[in-house]
Amino acid sequence: MRWAVLVGGTGSNLRALLSEDVPVALVVSHRSGVGAIAIAEEFGVPVEVLTKREYPDRHDFDRELRQTLNRYDIDAIAMAGFLRWLTKETVDAFRGRIINIHPSLLPAFPGLHAIEQAYRYGVRWTGVTVHFVDEGQDTGPIIAQVPVRVDPGTSLGELETAIHKVEHDLYPKVVAALEQHWVWLAEDGTIKWQVPPEEVRSWIDGLYLV
Ligand code: GRF
Repeated sequence: MRWAVLVGGTGSNLRALLSEDVPVALVVSHRSGVGAIAIAEEFGVPVEVLTKREYPDRHDFDRELRQTLNRYDIDAIAMAGFLRWLTKETVDAFRGRIINIHPSLLPAFPGLHAIEQAYRYGVRWTGVTVHFVDEGQDTGPIIAQVPVRVDPGTSLGELETAIHKVEHDLYPKVVAALEQHWVWLAEDGTIKWQVPPEEVRSWIDGLYLV
């Protein structure tokens, strides 16, 4: 599979994917000058920058995005800090082949600053979610979730560090599961696993719940 990673920030998840040898054929950023672009360049991956300023209309932006993805013959998309909401046309063109990582246990705390939202709310547990992307914001069928405990006295910075560590372990695993067709999105919108769920659970959880 030829993956595109859609970014817009520091790029730590992009680095995690590239470090695990995910075949990333293209990085698309919605911002210029961000850390993620430097990481793509470090790994020799082509970068395309599509900004809101160039394409203020969502549909124009997404049309250009789809053309770019087609030009690079992209099969699957991993979103990692990409802060533009994809239109139905793009989701339909890649349905079941677009995933996103979000730093909370969805459906709790969607949107921006999810780690801080959860921390300020005072949750005892939060975590990381990887899900297929649909037309909504941080919605779509959930593929994997890993919980992170918030111990009393934990600072926001410590929680952010713990969440990002889990993200960097989890995202390449989910990409590998998709590549191996262990998991996919069925026509009826449900997640299907090709291996026994227990085995998948231990495969994913075993790394984190020790
Ligand atoms: C991550 O926390 C991800 O969950 C969220 O945006 C952040 C991107 O961070 N969607 P990075 O650019 O990968 O470091």
